[in-house]
Amino acid sequence: MRERLLAAEKVKAIDWRDGALYLLDQRVLPHKEQWLRYDSAGAVADAITSMVVRGAPAIGIAAAWGVVLGVRQRLAEGGDWRAAVAADIALLADSRPTAVNLFWALNRMRERLERLRPQDDPATLLEAEARLIHESDREANLTMAQLGTDLIRKHQGSQQALLTHCNAGALATGGFGTALGVIRGAFLEGMVEHVYADETRPWLQGSRLTAWELANEGIPVSVNADSAAARIMKTKGITWVIVGADRITANGDVANKIGTYQLAVNAMHHGVRFMVVAPSSTIDMSLDSGELIPIEERDGAELLEVGGQLLGAQVEAFNPVFDVTPADLIDAIVTEKGVVERPDTAKLEQLMCRKRLH
Ligand code: MRU
Repeated sequence: MRERLLAAEKVKAIDWRDGALYLLDQRVLPHKEQWLRYDSAGAVADAITSMVVRGAPAIGIAAAWGVVLGVRQRLAEGGDWRAAVAADIALLADSRPTAVNLFWALNRMRERLERLRPQDDPATLLEAEARLIHESDREANLTMAQLGTDLIRKHQGSQQALLTHCNAGALATGGFGTALGVIRGAFLEGMVEHVYADETRPWLQGSRLTAWELANEGIPVSVNADSAAARIMKTKGITWVIVGADRITANGDVANKIGTYQLAVNAMHHGVRFMVVAPSSTIDMSLDSGELIPIEERDGAELLEVGGQLLGAQVEAFNPVFDVTPADLIDAIVTEKGVVERPDTAKLEQLMCRKRLH
């Protein structure tokens, strides 16, 4: 399957070339394919906050490249470059609060900086570390696609009707995607009859990004209002809900795009299996449970307006953009280290001691 997945690779969101970072602007997709060039850590932090780049693993990867840009710039400026890079890392860490991959990637870069020896070239070695973070996410996607596809086959191998939420695809990662990687894998194995993509209000990651990615590859997809999900589960023979994650705590609770929690409750009611697909960089063993995850709230204008046009009454809007699905609603967490069915603290502790499977 690995070779067939690699052959099907069409979209990427992050590119490092000629000493600069290029990001595919996800605010304007699918109508415009616009690449923006970045050459400072501060500009990358802004790109993360404004969601030019989004999706937990992609945010981490972009931040790692942001540190490389910071190191290059600060070395060229001279003076106390390490203090200036520390300030750049703090700026990047402040860009979005929920996806732990951001902090995981920044910690990796910080540790690499600390391990530099006097004779080392900081820019070259930090660039190598960012490339490793980027490429190992791509590899993790391939492993998860295989493991998730095997899991679907194990439970029910015939034609699947799948439901997904937000965008956990190529645009959100360094490779093919987490949830969409599994969906791509299952499609290549001839197991997917149809994919239902929640539109994912208010930012429309589902209708703008997921539908675009899947349709480009000929995977049968339709978009539905988020509020149609329960009816779809009841009437369309949904076998699995498959989603990504922004942070998974030690007990297996999962923070993901707002609306994921109500999908899991609905899935339990309708006897639909619920799969979370995420690399181990999304697992935060320092937090005991999901209640401790910082949940980002974004500007109410994202809810009240479309394209700058006010839709309804001009009132206050409450716009939390993530929620937490409790572990007991989750059938399986698929990572590149292996699959955890019916997650709990003991199983996640065991998983995190394991090596990657690729
Ligand atoms: O606000 P976003 O678009 O960054 O939120 C993204 C999600 O919630 C994704 O489902 C999650 O990051 C997994 S991406 C592989």
